[in-house]
Amino acid sequence: MKRILTGLKPTGEITLGNYIGAIKQMVKMQDEYETYLFVADLHALTVYQDPKKLHDRIKRFIALYIACGIDPDKCLIYLQSENPYITAISFLLECTTYYGEASRMIQFKEKSKENKNFSVGLLTYPILMAADILYCDTDLVPVGIDQKQHVELARNIAERFNNKYGDTFILPDALVSESGVKIKDLKNPTKKMSKSEGNKDGVISMFDSSEDIRRKIMHATTDSENVVKFDEENKPGISNLMNIVANLEDITIEEITNKFVGKGYKEFKEYVADIVCQHLSAIQDKYNKLINSNEIDSILDNGIKISQKLAKEKYLDMCQKMGIVR
Ligand code: TYM
Repeated sequence: MKRILTGLKPTGEITLGNYIGAIKQMVKMQDEYETYLFVADLHALTVYQDPKKLHDRIKRFIALYIACGIDPDKCLIYLQSENPYITAISFLLECTTYYGEASRMIQFKEKSKENKNFSVGLLTYPILMAADILYCDTDLVPVGIDQKQHVELARNIAERFNNKYGDTFILPDALVSESGVKIKDLKNPTKKMSKSEGNKDGVISMFDSSEDIRRKIMHATTDSENVVKFDEENKPGISNLMNIVANLEDITIEEITNKFVGKGYKEFKEYVADIVCQHLSAIQDKYNKLINSNEIDSILDNGIKISQKLAKEKYLDMCQKMGIVR
């Protein structure tokens, strides 16, 4: 059975973009694949996080994964930081990665521009991501399109390691959802919808109330044509709303277009708001039941045991191949 794996970094509340780009894909695939889903808490530290908020958010992420439909009986769930073999593997992989290729990562280039005093972790983070993927022989990595380059880097590192030291890693592939979708900020639909501390009007958090969701969607930036048509270049706002509905309802863009022939944006936005509210309130109900139960700890205890066992085996195999075993 093929193995799929993905992780989300707890830098803010999970957004509708994360749900569509990563979690929903995992839910669909958990019956057909061996599925691993983790909280990339080490990745969050590449940019300073308030420790208390970060701590609280980690458990919320796990409860939300399950509320979104991830089944702990089918999917291994764990915290990245509880597996020190992954960070040890990451260092071995750093020594097989060129500085040039790490510094060419788009996300590194963008984020390092935002702050002059960025951390070294921001540069090495994709290599830790390669360790996350490679330690357990992952075949497929469902991600949003913004992470595709990092998965390709993991593949290149794995290939180089295999060539230098002998067959060790499976070469992973990124799995970007069918429409290659990157859900955009509702207020600035040329920018991706991204996790943030504040409750920005362009970002829908999985914890938003129905009133907030409705308000944000009704005020989403559009164009003045008043025709519901998919055209990402000239109508990024409307195309983004169409992408959201298509992904949540598993319907095609064409079906949405046909439904709104001769109708205007107000009616369309009301329809989008209804759908998003329906999906999110069902998830929130499940989340509220889970967050205070003991279930989460036992799920994580089980997950980390298996994850550590696999990572230890891979680490020792790498050490032996690289010549650092006594
Ligand atoms: P992160 O936490 O930024 O995002 C988590 C997942 O959500 C996807 N995503 C989106 N998809 C569609 N539209 C959006 N607006 C949107 N925003 C985010 C991301 O592509 C991602 O799939 N480095 C990773 C976490 C990570 C990881 C891994 C992922 C660490 N190790 C190993 C896969 C495998 C990250 O920062 O994702």
